[in-house]
Amino acid sequence: MEVVGLVAERARDLAPDVLVLAGDVCPDLQRLEACLRIIVEAAGAPVLYLAGNHELWCGGAQSSGPDSRQRYWVAIPRLARRAGAVVLGVEPHVIDDVGFVGVTGWYDYSLRDPSLAHVVSTADYAAKQYKEITCMDGQQVHWPGEDGAPLSDEALSDTMCTLLRKQLDEVSDRCGRVVVVTHMVPDRALLTARDVDGEQRQRPEGERFQDGFMGSARLGAELVNRPEVVQVICGHYHHAVRALLPGSRQEIPCEISPVGYPRELERSLADQVAHRMRVVEI
Ligand SMILES: [Fe+2]
Repeated sequence: MEVVGLVAERARDLAPDVLVLAGDVCPDLQRLEACLRIIVEAAGAPVLYLAGNHELWCGGAQSSGPDSRQRYWVAIPRLARRAGAVVLGVEPHVIDDVGFVGVTGWYDYSLRDPSLAHVVSTADYAAKQYKEITCMDGQQVHWPGEDGAPLSDEALSDTMCTLLRKQLDEVSDRCGRVVVVTHMVPDRALLTARDVDGEQRQRPEGERFQDGFMGSARLGAELVNRPEVVQVICGHYHHAVRALLPGSRQEIPCEISPVGYPRELERSLADQVAHRMRVVEI
C-alpha cells in the first residue's frame, strides 16, 4: 500500500488529463478495489485501469472463487467501476475525442528468445517450466473456454487479439486518435530495447526464457494497419523501455514504465514512483 500512496501523491502532483494503469496492481480483488479507490480520489482525472495477468490469478482450476474469465469480464470491471475507475479491457472509451481501447492480451510464445531454441522446446513453454524458472500463471490462471476446458495460451492470445480488433473497429470511425493499452507486450523489440534509464542490460538465461510469456507478436500485428493508433502503453515487463512499433503510415510509439516489484528497485521507492510515472503527450 506504500506504493499506492506514492502513486496517488504523484498523480495529484502531475495533474494529468488521464491516468493509465496497465495492470499488475494486486491479485487480491478486495485490495485491488481499495488501491484503485485511493488513486482515483487523488488523480482528479479519469483513471483508466486494465487488468494484468496477476489480477487474473484465481488460484487455478480447483479454486472455488471466480475463474480468470469471470474475473476479467465481471468481477474486475464491477469492482473497478465501484472504485470510480474507467475499465479498459471490455469496451472502448472516448475522452475528449481520443479513443482508448485495451485488452490484457496473452502470450503465445511468439516473443520467445530465438537464442534458446536449441535448449527450450515449445513443450517447455507450454509447461511454463525450464530449469528452476517457473511461470506461475500455469498454476494460478484458469480461463475456461466455452466447453469448460481451459484455453491454451495460443487460444487465449487469439481471443484477446479478436477483442482488441473489435474494440478498434468500434472506435476508429469516431476518433482520429486512439490510444491502445495492453498488459502483454506486442513486439519483441521492446524486450531487447535499451532501458530508458540505463545501459543495455545483460539478459540472463532465466529472463530470456520468460520472453516466451511476455506477449504476442499478433497483438502488434493488429496495430499495423491502424493509422488512428497514436500511442501504445503496456505493462507486464519489469523494465522501463520504449520502442517504435511498425505501422502502415507511421511508426507507433510504445511505452512500458513499471514501478516494479520492491525487490527490484534501483532507487528509493518514492524516487522510483516519481521516475516511472511518465507523462505521455498525445
Ligand atoms: Fe504481468
